[in-house]
Amino acid sequence: MPKIRHALFATAALVASPAVANAGEGAAPQPGQGEDAGQIAFNTHCRNCHSTKPGDNRLGPTLHGIVGAKAGQVKGFGGYSGGLTADMTWDEATLDKFIANPTAMISNTTMKPFGGVADAEQRKLIIEFLKTQSDS
Ligand code: HEC
Repeated sequence: MPKIRHALFATAALVASPAVANAGEGAAPQPGQGEDAGQIAFNTHCRNCHSTKPGDNRLGPTLHGIVGAKAGQVKGFGGYSGGLTADMTWDEATLDKFIANPTAMISNTTMKPFGGVADAEQRKLIIEFLKTQSDS
């Protein structure tokens, strides 16, 4: 019996460790390697809820082709707050403002509990990365 308990505990510890959980993703680029830094910043702050694959809606809508797109229009995504409307187009300025502090832009946003990315440099990296995630 004590042996089994120990094995269970070890499994739980593995699952709880983010470093181990990510280890299966292969050659993850390290921070500071040019354009990969944008991918890393996106992975760190956004990937829990967003994919950049077309049609891949998760907790948040797919961000494929989001730069230049009208807000709140991702097909098949049912979790919008209603605060994002086609009156607004996502560009560098609007994206920067939104991800700096989502609730300041849309008070009832469903993009929670994400609190925003305070570091302007990180936001810039993320937006540059998002620009590359489109067909055009
Ligand atoms: C906790 C989950 C979560 C995290 C983390 C998150 N988002 Fe979101 N995101 C959402 C949800 C939910 C919405 C829909 C918001 C609404 O309708 O108010 C959304 C909406 C958006 C939109 C608008 C999409 C559209 O169709 O107009 C953009 C752009 C966006 N997120 C970018 C980001 C970026 C960039 C990050 C990382 C810096 C991020 N999000 C982190 C959940 C998340």
